[in-house]
Amino acid sequence: MATAAKIDHWDVRRITGSLGAEVRGIALEKAGPAEADAIRELLTEHLVLFFPDQDLNPDTHIAFGRLFGELESHPNLSLDAERPEFFELRAKGGVGAIADEWHSDLSCQEQPSVLAILHMVKCPEFGGDTMWANMYKAYEALSQPMKDLCEGLTALHDAHPHDKPENMAIHPVVRVHPVSGRKSLFVNEHFTRRIVEMNHKESDALLSFLTGWATSPDFTVRYRWSEGTIAMWDNRCTQHCVLSDFEGERVIQRVTVMGDVPEAAEPPRYEPNISPISATSRHDRQLIRFLDQR
Ligand SMILES: [Fe+2]
Repeated sequence: MATAAKIDHWDVRRITGSLGAEVRGIALEKAGPAEADAIRELLTEHLVLFFPDQDLNPDTHIAFGRLFGELESHPNLSLDAERPEFFELRAKGGVGAIADEWHSDLSCQEQPSVLAILHMVKCPEFGGDTMWANMYKAYEALSQPMKDLCEGLTALHDAHPHDKPENMAIHPVVRVHPVSGRKSLFVNEHFTRRIVEMNHKESDALLSFLTGWATSPDFTVRYRWSEGTIAMWDNRCTQHCVLSDFEGERVIQRVTVMGDVPEAAEPPRYEPNISPISATSRHDRQLIRFLDQR
């Protein structure tokens, strides 16, 4: 098989027991459809891949990203007008763009991104590592009663941390991956606000548990960057977080492959929980507003 033969020439090394592999023996700027197929297979197995010592420029970075699907444009973040799908984030000494809360990219959208391809252009001498967590494992390690409960639920996500609380979406708490067919947990600390079918106190308690559980050390990998490393991850079954513990400059460039609608493991079993009019109904206003919009 062409794909297997290609992988045979690559050096693929797992980094932890949960997820992540370093891949050497391929120059990504020369990758074509056959290499993309092989990388997809590796991504399905390892969830996040690291390619050290690459030599991508903005144009070859974009071309590599397009092998995996249509790229999202970020007019406000893009590096230049001619490359709206290519953007750069800079941070120095604790100031700048640092994604230091656990999240799945853009889960506040109806179609969160599928995967991201990141180029570490400049990294600090120490610190600024990134962590990823395996959401298949986070789901599979739950007890059966908790799995049963979570599979019937949905959650409201919003872009409140980005001053855009009106950007909202409702997603299943447990989703099914369209390629692997595996179930994974799909709530995160950064974007997930509310379990739709519970009252706000129950929702707070369950989300607090699930978001903490999902990022248990046993489910994670922590990666120490070097300049020139390309990372790509499957956003549908992982979440990630940058450690904001560095003083030097950190510059990353990235492209993002556009998303799909998360598929629920089970249809919702319950109606949205909206309190009758009372002093506590203030906790439900955002949810009511969003349900009215749909
Ligand atoms: Fe992110």
